[in-house]
Amino acid sequence: MDLALTAEQEAMRRTVRDFARDVIAPRARETDERDEFPRDVIRRMGDLGILGLPVPEEWGGVGADYLSYILAIEEVSYQSAAIGVILAVHTGVATLPIVMFGTDDQKRRYVERLATGEWIGAFALTEPDAGSDARAIRTRAVRDGDGYVLNGSKAFITNGGVADVYTVFAVTHPERGAHGVTAFLVEQGTPGFAVGRREEKMGLHGSPTAALEFADVRLAPAQRLGAEGEGFKIAMSQLDGGRIGIAAQALGIARAAFDAAVAYTKTRRQFGRAIADFQATRLTLAQMATDIEAAQLLTYRAAGMRSRGQPCTAEASMAKLFASDTAMRVTTDAVQLFGGYGYTREYPVERLMRDAKVTQIYEGTNQIQRIVIAKSLERGGLP
Ligand code: CAA
Repeated sequence: MDLALTAEQEAMRRTVRDFARDVIAPRARETDERDEFPRDVIRRMGDLGILGLPVPEEWGGVGADYLSYILAIEEVSYQSAAIGVILAVHTGVATLPIVMFGTDDQKRRYVERLATGEWIGAFALTEPDAGSDARAIRTRAVRDGDGYVLNGSKAFITNGGVADVYTVFAVTHPERGAHGVTAFLVEQGTPGFAVGRREEKMGLHGSPTAALEFADVRLAPAQRLGAEGEGFKIAMSQLDGGRIGIAAQALGIARAAFDAAVAYTKTRRQFGRAIADFQATRLTLAQMATDIEAAQLLTYRAAGMRSRGQPCTAEASMAKLFASDTAMRVTTDAVQLFGGYGYTREYPVERLMRDAKVTQIYEGTNQIQRIVIAKSLERGGLP
């Protein structure tokens, strides 16, 4: 298995790394403290092509492969995990499903605007009573002539309130279970569609998370994404890719905490020497580095498979599971190495620890990732 990056992937990573260092890093602390959507930064990411990296050029994107896009999420998240998830959701689970399942008219209307950042996208699957059990959604879309009428509510929607278009999953045929779900593209401002409560979260400040309400929202036939009954498959197949994005976000967070810990332990002196000279510190740093390396290999492997169009459901879940647990461990250890200072806002590690937690929860909790991996083992899906 060759995990070496190509010259193009390296060059793209350098470009995003420089941009993140110059533009995102100076804004990361303020974005966290103010909890404001960093619209100007997102616009500049759009101008540079970062929001449309894996989108084909004919639809306004850069036409890069999936691994290049994953490297970009990692680099952005290294500086700001909040901006990392805005990118991951906008591109990975809001734009790419339209590229894969949309009609040419839908691609012209939505993908071209999403790829350049003119519009922001969101993915609306979760509901108050349907989180891990995604097929228990109750939002209903009932046929009305050629079109549909949508009623229901969604919860915890990333980019909720700032998005211009939402991919909304609704039940069209309740008797068909997972095969009775259909996806719709709902634009902001559609009569009957309202953004509800915005969540106040532990971390990822600056990345809005909101409830959505649909009351007799009339949708034209052209608002349907894919065929009737295809929605659950669309959601699950896009989450395969999305989970690799969350693994990359976790990796960026973990690397940032590790680098901060290395720098700090070299300068912090106690008992007459730098704390990096104590064996306890060195063993902790060695474990952090090993976990990060392993998380990176799993993430790049899954992304490489996705780039080549190979099925990677279990590999994506493994990457997300391991990388997010790594981010939580590494950030917790980093706070510990910083001692009392680590618990203050003076250093970034407390933010990194708060931001890491959600990577174990969203795009399927890590318990759900284990279920997905186990199902794959059952089907003989892994070597
Ligand atoms: N690709 C394509 N199709 C898939 C699939 C995949 N990865 N996984 C399942 N399917 C298909 C199955 O083949 C099956 O179809 P058939 O009957 O034709 O075979 C159908 O979908 C139902 O599959 P399951 O029986 O496996 O479904 P299930 O009800 O047992 O649920 C689950 C599976 C994995 C638990 C799923 O409910 C799940 O992933 N839950 C977690 C939800 C989640 O990840 N939410 C994330 C929200 S978005 C988010 O968090 C974004 C953000 O803000 C950062």
